[in-house]
Amino acid sequence: MNIWKLDNGFELPKVGLGTWLMGGNMEANSSDDEVCLRAIQSALDLGYRHIDTAELYGNGHAEELVGQAITNTKRENLIIATKVAKTNLQYEDVLKAAKGSLKRLKLDYVDIYYIHAPNPNIPVEGTMKAMNKLIKEGLIKNIAVSNFTIDMIREAQSFADTKIVANQVEYSLSTQLEDNYGYSKNVCSEMVPYCQENGIMLVAYRPVNRGELLEPNKILDKVAQKYGKTRAQIAINWLVSQKNVVTIPMSQNETHLKENLEAGDWEMDPEDIEALGVAYR
Ligand SMILES: NC(=O)c1ccc[n+]([C@@H]2O[C@H](COP(=O)([O-])OP(=O)(O)OC[C@H]3O[C@@H](n4cnc5c(N)ncnc54)[C@H](OP(=O)(O)O)[C@@H]3O)[C@@H](O)[C@H]2O)c1
Repeated sequence: MNIWKLDNGFELPKVGLGTWLMGGNMEANSSDDEVCLRAIQSALDLGYRHIDTAELYGNGHAEELVGQAITNTKRENLIIATKVAKTNLQYEDVLKAAKGSLKRLKLDYVDIYYIHAPNPNIPVEGTMKAMNKLIKEGLIKNIAVSNFTIDMIREAQSFADTKIVANQVEYSLSTQLEDNYGYSKNVCSEMVPYCQENGIMLVAYRPVNRGELLEPNKILDKVAQKYGKTRAQIAINWLVSQKNVVTIPMSQNETHLKENLEAGDWEMDPEDIEALGVAYR
C-alpha cells in the first residue's frame, strides 16, 4: 500500500512533492518558472497527489506555480498543503495569510493548513482560534503543525476544535537524532512513536537531506544493491516503512520524481530497516 491512513480516515500518500526552492528562496525568482512548472506537471502525470508548499517559499511564488500547474487536474484528486509563516500567527494575520495563499493557489480551499513553525512570542491560542474559523468557513479542511515538539502539539490541540492531523518535521536517516534547524531532536525515538500512538501523521521533510544522503555509504549501498534500488529510494523507503510516516522530497528532475514516487511502493526486510537506522545514528 502506498498510503498511510489514520483511524479518523485522514490519509496521505507515502510520497508527496515538496516545493521549497521552486519559485525562489525567501524572495520570488521567476527565472526557473518553466522548469518548476514542468516538474510539478510531470509529478502529477506520474501520479503524485500530495503537494506541499508554503507562503514563505519564494515569497508566495511557489504557491503561484503550484496554482498554475494544477489547473488541469481534478481538485478531488489533489491534496494541497500550505503553511502560514511563523511571523503571521496572530489571529487576524492567520486569516489574512490563508486568504492570500488561496488566491495565489487559485483554490477555494486547501486540504492541509500548517503552522510553519512555532513562534514563542505569539500565543498559540489565537492562532488556533483562527484555524478553527478557517475550518468552519471551509477554507481549510485540516489543521496541522510543523516543527512542533510534543508539548507544543498538546497545547495547540487543546485550543483546536478538530484533530491536528500532522506534524511536519525534518526527518531522514541522517537527521534521526537532531535536525538542521534546531527544532527537533530524537524524532525516531520520541516523535514517531508519539504520532503513531496519537493518530497523527508525521510528514518528514528533507528526506534525502538535500542530497547529502546520496553520498556513498557502506550499509546504504549494500541494501540498495540487495533490492536493486537507488540510494534515494532506500532513504525514502526507510522513512515510509514506519507507520504514519510520509514524506515530501523536492525534485525538479523527472527521473528523480519517478524514482522517489516508486520508493513508496515496496517493502524492505525488517532487519535492513533496523541496520540502516543504526548505521546513521
Ligand atoms: N516545514 C518546514 O519547515 C520545511 C523545511 C524544509 C523543507 N520543507 C518541505 O520539505 C520538502 C523537501 O525538503 P528539501 O527540498 O529541503 O530537501 P530534500 O527533498 O531532501 O532534497 C531536495 C534535493 O535533493 C535532490 N533530489 C531529490 N530526489 C533525488 C533523487 N532521487 N536523486 C538525486 N537527487 C535527488 C533534488 O535535486 P533534483 O531537483 O536534481 O532532483 C534537490 O536538490 C521541501 O521542498 C518543502 O516542501 C519543509
